Amino acid sequence: MIAGALTASCLALVPSVAVAAPPPHAHASHHHSHPAKHDTLGDLAKRAGIKFGAAVNTDVLATDAKYRHLVGTQFTSVTPENVMKWEVVEPEQGVYDYTAADQLVAFAKQHHQVVRGHNLVWHNQLPAWLTSGTFTAAQLRDILHQHITAEASHFRGKIQQWDVVNEALNDDGTFRQDIWYNAYQELTGDGTGYIADAFRWAHQADPHAKLFYNDYNLEFTGVKSDAAYALVKQLKSEGVPIDGVGFQGHLDTQYGYPDLQNNLQRFADLHLQVAMTEVDVRTFVKQNADGTYSDTPATPADAQKQIDYWTNTVKACLAVKACKSFTTWGVSDNYSWIPGVFTGEGAGLLYDQNENPKPQYFAVADVLRHAHGHHRH
Ligand code: G3I
Repeated sequence: MIAGALTASCLALVPSVAVAAPPPHAHASHHHSHPAKHDTLGDLAKRAGIKFGAAVNTDVLATDAKYRHLVGTQFTSVTPENVMKWEVVEPEQGVYDYTAADQLVAFAKQHHQVVRGHNLVWHNQLPAWLTSGTFTAAQLRDILHQHITAEASHFRGKIQQWDVVNEALNDDGTFRQDIWYNAYQELTGDGTGYIADAFRWAHQADPHAKLFYNDYNLEFTGVKSDAAYALVKQLKSEGVPIDGVGFQGHLDTQYGYPDLQNNLQRFADLHLQVAMTEVDVRTFVKQNADGTYSDTPATPADAQKQIDYWTNTVKACLAVKACKSFTTWGVSDNYSWIPGVFTGEGAGLLYDQNENPKPQYFAVADVLRHAHGHHRH
C-alpha cells in the first residue's frame, strides 16, 4: 500500500505541480508582480536568482512519501546527506557502490534539480579498511588520488558544485591533523598539500563541476574564517582549480548572529563563488511529557530568534552577488542530525516533526518573494 501511494505521488510530482497546494502556474501566470502564496521555495528562489536546496536522506526518500513530495517540489538543488561519503561509496578498497547516490542523481534529474556533491575528502565517515589499515604515507596519497578520480569521474557532468575538501580547519584556525594531513606531512613536510592535490585531481576527473572548499563557523569573523580566507587565497594564487567556498551555516540561537554578509563578501572579493551549504538554526527545545524531544523552542524569544537567523541568512546570501546557492541541512525536524549531537537542542529546520511548514518557512518564503525584481544576474 505504501509503495503504491509513494509511486502515485511521485508520478504526480512530475513536472513540479504541487499536490498539497494549488498549481503554482495558475496563480503565477496571472499575477506576475504578486507571486502566488503557494509558490515553492524553489520557485521563489528562482525568481530571486538562486538555487534553494536541501540535504536529502536517501533512506527516508525511499520510504516517506510526504518527505519525498517536499524534496521533489520545494527545492531546486539536492545534496546527499551521507551517500556520497567515502564509507558509503568505497566500503572495501577499490570496490565502489554508487547505488544510493545514483538514485538521488536520477531523482534530481527527474525533478529538474541540480546536485551538490558532498564530499570527496573529509576526516569523518571514512571506511574501516582505511582508518584501521596500515598504509604508508605514499600509499595513502595514492588511495586519495584513486578515490577522488573514481568518484568524480563516476558523476562527471552530473554535479553542479562539489565539496572537494570538507572541514580541513580546526576552530582555532590551525589545520586539522587528520589522516591526510599526517600523510602529507610525512611525505613532503607540508601537511596541507593534500588540499591542492584534491582540487587538481577533482578538476581532472570532472572539468565542468564547480569545486568548493566547505566548512562550518566561517560565518563568524575570527581566526577560523581568517584561516579559510588565507587558505583559499593561497590556493588561487597557486593556480589551484578552486571555484568557491561553502559556508555550512549551522547556527544556534544561544550564540550571537554572525557577521555573515561581510564574510561572504570578502571571500567573493577573491573572485570565488560562495554558497550557503548546510543551513539549520537550532535552539533549546521543551521536552515532551514522556521525556522525548518536542519541536517547541524553550521560549518565545528563542522561537523569534530562529526566524530572524533564518531570514538574515537568506538576506545575506541575496545581498552578495556571488552567492547563488542556499541549502538547508535536511528538510524536516524529525530526521535532523541535531538532537543526536546537541543534547536538549533541535527544531533547526523549516519543517516540523510532522513535516509541516514552520513560521521560519513562511518568513524565508517572504524574503525570497521580496527579492523578486532585484537585478542579480
Ligand atoms: O549507516 C549507519 C547504519 O548502518 C547504522 O545502523 C547506524 C547506527 O547508528 O548508523 C548509520 O550511520 C550514521 C550515518 O549518519 C548515516 O545515517 C552515523 O551513525 C551518523 O553518525 C551519521 O551522521 C551524519 C554526520 O554527518 C556524520 O558526521 C549525519 O547524518 C549528517 O547529517 C552529518 O552531516 C555533516 C556534514 O556531512 C558535514 N558538516 C556537518 C554535518 C552535520 O554534522
